[in-house]
Amino acid sequence: MAKIVTYCNQKGGVGKTTSAVTFAVDLQRRGHSVLMFDADPQLSAYNWAGASQETDGFPVEIRVLENNAKFISKELKKYFDSYDYIIIDSPPNLENGILRRCLLISDAYVLSFIPKSLELSALPPIKAYIEDVDIMRSEIDSYPLKGGLFYNMVNNTRLVKAVIDVVESDKLFPVFNARIRTSTLVPESQLLGLTIFEMGAKGKKLQEDFTALTDEIIELI
Ligand SMILES: Nc1ncnc2c1ncn2[C@@H]1O[C@H](COP(=O)(O)OP(=O)(O)OP(=O)(O)O)[C@@H](O)[C@H]1O
Ligand SMILES: [Mg+2]
Repeated sequence: MAKIVTYCNQKGGVGKTTSAVTFAVDLQRRGHSVLMFDADPQLSAYNWAGASQETDGFPVEIRVLENNAKFISKELKKYFDSYDYIIIDSPPNLENGILRRCLLISDAYVLSFIPKSLELSALPPIKAYIEDVDIMRSEIDSYPLKGGLFYNMVNNTRLVKAVIDVVESDKLFPVFNARIRTSTLVPESQLLGLTIFEMGAKGKKLQEDFTALTDEIIELI
């Protein structure tokens, strides 16, 4: 039965798509069978993979999750027995029920977070949302969601350190140890329709960041 992981944050541009796709590709590289669903009407994940048509094709299968939130679990159930992992990239909002339906059938959430002061206000609402999902899950006899927050676009500034200190003292979310650095290779790879694993030696450190995160997520679920 597939393990299902949903990437989330109602804030836009925090790295949900980047990290969800990279996790899916990393799992595939490790020999697991992986299906990725793009549940964001912007179709960023789907388009990233689509940009690869002129090269060798994208290493992981990405499907669009039809924009009818009602049928998400029905749609996903078709694939439960055929894959080891199903990875979902979700849209940057909490309003239309898509994320709730994804989280109801997931094993874990991964919250992508940029440690900038402006982003901090995003955390209490998503925490409350996940707690609400957990109440619904308990009503259908499902276990509480696993998951946690990881820091994306980390650099060595005092601001970043200060925000990380606040997040860790608030204890709103479990925090993954792996941190993803800021790298121009991320947007470059997306333009080329390549994964960060295809960006050559210059991408080694960035790959190490992501593979460390993959290790922790696998361990968690
Ligand atoms: N570690 C990183 N270093 C540099 N740029 C990054 C990094 N992570 C993401 N980006 C860039 O930031 C932008 C937003 O990333 P991404 O699309 O993954 O975020 P998102 O949360 O999925 O956005 P949306 O909410 O719009 O779906 C992209 O241009 C991406 O290339
Ligand atoms: Mg996205």
